[in-house]
Amino acid sequence: MTAALIELRSVAKNYGAAAKAVHNFSLTVEPGNLVTLLGPSGCGKTTILRLIAGLEDLSEGEILIDGQAITHIPTHKRQLGMVAQDYALFPHMTVEQNLAFGIKSSQLARRRQAPLSSLQIKERIGQLLSLVGLDGYERRRPAQLSGGQKQRVALARALVTEPRVLLLDEPFAALDKQLREQLQIEVRRIQAQVGITTVFVTHDQNEALAMSDRVAVLNLGKLEQYASPQQIYDEPATRFVAEFVGRNNFFSGRITERSADACRVTLSEGTEFWLQCKSPVLVGNQVQFSVRPERVRISRVAAPVDAKLNSLVGVVSHTVYLGDRIDVLVDTKVGVMSANIPRDQPGQCNWTHGESVCVEFSPGAGTLLPDVQSM
Ligand SMILES: Nc1ncnc2c1ncn2[C@@H]1O[C@H](COP(=O)(O)OP(=O)(O)OP(=O)(O)O)[C@@H](O)[C@H]1O
Ligand SMILES: [Mg+2]
Repeated sequence: MTAALIELRSVAKNYGAAAKAVHNFSLTVEPGNLVTLLGPSGCGKTTILRLIAGLEDLSEGEILIDGQAITHIPTHKRQLGMVAQDYALFPHMTVEQNLAFGIKSSQLARRRQAPLSSLQIKERIGQLLSLVGLDGYERRRPAQLSGGQKQRVALARALVTEPRVLLLDEPFAALDKQLREQLQIEVRRIQAQVGITTVFVTHDQNEALAMSDRVAVLNLGKLEQYASPQQIYDEPATRFVAEFVGRNNFFSGRITERSADACRVTLSEGTEFWLQCKSPVLVGNQVQFSVRPERVRISRVAAPVDAKLNSLVGVVSHTVYLGDRIDVLVDTKVGVMSANIPRDQPGQCNWTHGESVCVEFSPGAGTLLPDVQSM
């Protein structure tokens, strides 16, 4: 089976007149890719999955799979595998019966000339359980499985019908961190092995960055950015994305000088920073920019030494040990700057409250946030 292309074109969903869950949402998922819908609770992630699945009707727009509009195709004919947010295995059935139920009630048997024989069903279930690492678990009931094993069965059940699209709604939400990270790797491996086009939903930014070919960040039912994990992290398109994915130091100011690939931003109290910048900002534009804490450095010198770096003097106000790294908060005249420093660097681990330091970041460490450039 070849992987499917999914296209959402200007999709909107209103639950009644007042509740607009999704607005003007467009997205293309390339065949075989895993795309994550990432956003806070209530931003419309489950709604979009349910629209793809045909469990909700579109208010506007259209959804196409392999170029064919699926709006009028009922759920059971869309050839989808889904693990729902509140999924439940049938508790009275064994693992094998849960999977066999999926096969029997699906298109698979109906698409073929003759339904699968019991032996073929058994074989198919065996293959799927092997794929998710549960060889020999056929006779267990859900109550006899751990949380992670139940998730694997749910995934096997979603895949057992050979769907062309896999939809996963926060499948690891109930699991502890270690198990979640293990299953993230495993699901990604299985997805790549099967080569199935997958839409994955999470509100966990690390999960999204770890698992995806591309990430769609949503806020209040709207798409904020659709890009690779690296672009989402390094080049957030909006302040919302910069705030939701990772941590940041934010500044606002005005462009006071501009060269081909850099600009000078002057903050309201007069501090000047140079930033690399390819976007078409002009002198006089009001802008915001962000700097990741891990790109901020601290030194014990009283004044800046490297004229090529942006620097500020300040006083250490708080430190948080994080094992291999340390967070240091520094009070400066432009507010509190947060630095996240590896502890294995010489002289970087023992910062004292009240100590005078110099905070530095390179022009390349600042990201201009385009959504407020026209303010
Ligand atoms: N059946 C419904 N009737 C009315 N409003 C709904 C319905 N389902 C969802 N909504 C509303 O639509 C918005 C989006 O809900 P949705 O379930 O898609 O969010 P989500 O991003 O999946 O959130 P979570 O991370 O909490 O699962 C929310 O404001 C929600 O209250
Ligand atoms: Mg949801």
